[in-house]
Amino acid sequence: MADVKKIAVIAGDGIGPEVVAEAIKVMKKTEDVFGYRFEFEHGLFGGIAIDEKGTPLPEDTLAICKKADAVLLGAVGGPKWDNNPKELRPETGLLGIRKALGLFSNIRPANVFDCLKEASTLKPEVLEGTDLIVVRELTGGIYFGEKFRREGANGEEAVDTCVYNVTEVERIVRQAFEIARTRRKKLASVDKANVLETSRLWRETVNRIAPDYPDVELEHVLVDNCAMQLLRRPSSFDVIVTENMFGDILSDEAAMLTGSIGMLSSASLGEGAFGLYEPVHGSAPDIAGQGIANPIATILSVALMYRLTFGYHDAAEAIERAVKEVLDAGHRTGDIAVDKSKALGTTAMGELIVGAIRK
Ligand code: NAI
Ligand code: MG
Repeated sequence: MADVKKIAVIAGDGIGPEVVAEAIKVMKKTEDVFGYRFEFEHGLFGGIAIDEKGTPLPEDTLAICKKADAVLLGAVGGPKWDNNPKELRPETGLLGIRKALGLFSNIRPANVFDCLKEASTLKPEVLEGTDLIVVRELTGGIYFGEKFRREGANGEEAVDTCVYNVTEVERIVRQAFEIARTRRKKLASVDKANVLETSRLWRETVNRIAPDYPDVELEHVLVDNCAMQLLRRPSSFDVIVTENMFGDILSDEAAMLTGSIGMLSSASLGEGAFGLYEPVHGSAPDIAGQGIANPIATILSVALMYRLTFGYHDAAEAIERAVKEVLDAGHRTGDIAVDKSKALGTTAMGELIVGAIRK
């Protein structure tokens, strides 16, 4: 029997608890079908934690996460807390948890379900076969560099600095090579090495460690070219690795290839197998409490957890297959439905997927 894996569940606000509930049903089904074992421990986080404990990231929630093997997160935030001071805002908890858990990379798959191709703004023949992952460095670069204002010769100036050290580059590039190894074995390293010194260090580092991964085909792509190629030939990419700001922009561009925010999963990883898994979308206050949110992004985040943290590839594949089967049969939640009158609710969609999981 498989050993018991500890899962910290932080459902959060708005539709967070609704979609997380369906993801947990999926995990329980994989216990029955594949014999895996999970122990769930719930923690308060975000707006609800502000209301009940006076802080977005309570110590006991952090403790639950630190002793877990993986974290499943819903979403946080909402209009109720928008005007709070910074330390009492849900987003502050989000930054805090990533920092406290040492999560330095953010991973976002963008795969196009053939039956949803009509939901995208791109031509179906361009999208055909698109299945890529963007690996974004999360804790370095220009977002974290020194920033200040000063008086210059021509008036006020603003300065942002971009700093990367070789350790930061190496750890994320190695992670991306490892992920590529589990997939189609292609890595695109994205930089601006024709202009930026940080990019030159990035590229030198990639080239230095590439010989450790002779089975992975490597290409260097300049970021502006990558932005174009994502629209021209998205299916030619497998794994894309890049620094923080480029990754911020490219991962949103890649997300739009698939059509709906309700379908997109993500992972944040640090050293080792530990990871935090969550849908890309937020707490959707406009539809919260109505039972109509699409749970697929959260369910696919579980598949990502199985692959990246636990190596449960059989169960991950079963989840992805179940989602595809249910969509192919024409079932839709409101966000991806053409005929909204036939749309299913969160629970109905979750249960159909649970029912389709098999060996
Ligand atoms: P959002 O992703 O919550 O919603 C954007 C639009 O997409 C809304 O119309 C919503 O109804 C729809 N949508 C989102 N997820 C859906 C799903 N699963 N099924 C069906 N429709 C879905 O982004 P928004 O409105 O900008 O932010 C709302 C709140 O969420 C804010 O407080 C924001 O700060 C927070 N947020 C939290 C994130 C997180 O926890 N990581 C990420 C993004 C936003
Ligand atoms: Mg999220």
